Amino acid sequence: MKTAVIGGTGFVGSRLVKRLRSTGHETTSHGRSTGLDLLTGAGLPEALRSVDVVVLTIDAPSFDAAASPFFRSTTLNLLEAADREGVGHIVLLSIVGIDRVPGVDYYAAKVLQEDLVRSGPVPFSVVRATQFMEFVEPIMSWTSEGDVVRLPTTRLQPIAVADVVDTLADVAAGAPVDGIVDVAGPEVFPLDELGRVTLRAHGDQRTVVVDESAGLFGAVPENAIIAPPGARIGSVYYADWLTNEPPVS
Ligand SMILES: NC(=O)c1ccc[n+]([C@@H]2O[C@H](COP(=O)([O-])OP(=O)(O)OC[C@H]3O[C@@H](n4cnc5c(N)ncnc54)[C@H](OP(=O)(O)O)[C@@H]3O)[C@@H](O)[C@H]2O)c1
Repeated sequence: MKTAVIGGTGFVGSRLVKRLRSTGHETTSHGRSTGLDLLTGAGLPEALRSVDVVVLTIDAPSFDAAASPFFRSTTLNLLEAADREGVGHIVLLSIVGIDRVPGVDYYAAKVLQEDLVRSGPVPFSVVRATQFMEFVEPIMSWTSEGDVVRLPTTRLQPIAVADVVDTLADVAAGAPVDGIVDVAGPEVFPLDELGRVTLRAHGDQRTVVVDESAGLFGAVPENAIIAPPGARIGSVYYADWLTNEPPVS
């Protein structure tokens, strides 16, 4: 079985490519830097030739309203080429709860990406993950000023990217589910508490101040992005991840 990871040069995709190859799967990795541009379709037929499974882990260049036209064009180009080349399964990486959060441009764009895959001609699986543990620091940096980090009490269920990669690899090796597989970390934290735990672990003297309107997650209703019952639960706890934190590369 041959798998193509589109977004294989990115944060999640590169780890997935490594994982699949280490377990003996024939895997190719694609992004603009390898000559495949999903926006224009350049390089697509060559990338999909004889491919059984495509895992889509691309991301938009920005989290604003421009994300929707990006996901529309890239997804439609992929679906058309995948249908033509006889790809049997598309696995899409998405985000838990995006359809329960109105008014966030990036989430609306991910819903659009999911809808296009769902209504497309190729059998599919959507893997919806919660926020990556590796993403907590960037979240804090958005609303950090001087010695203060402003964070809402929105509940998050952070997951280590290694657990996301495990799920993507399993789903890619199986039959299309024609639906959603949710995957989440083993614990739920209010975001302000997650911030304090993170600062403490890093010996960072900044203070977390609760601000329910701060950042992207200020717009998220309580529990909206917590995994639903039946989700697959990752094995890595945040405290352990902080202790053994691998460098983000
Ligand atoms: N952050 C979170 O907590 C979280 C949680 C759940 C799900 N997700 C989802 O995870 C996905 C992957 O995130 P990530 O952090 O791995 O993203 P990333 O590191 O920014 O990687 C993006 C990938 O997309 C490729 N790409 C971008 N534009 C392209 C184009 N026009 N044609 C072909 N390839 C293109 C990039 O390759 P080149 O630069 O070589 O083109 C790169 O391989 C996203 O869809 C995100 O929504 C994120």
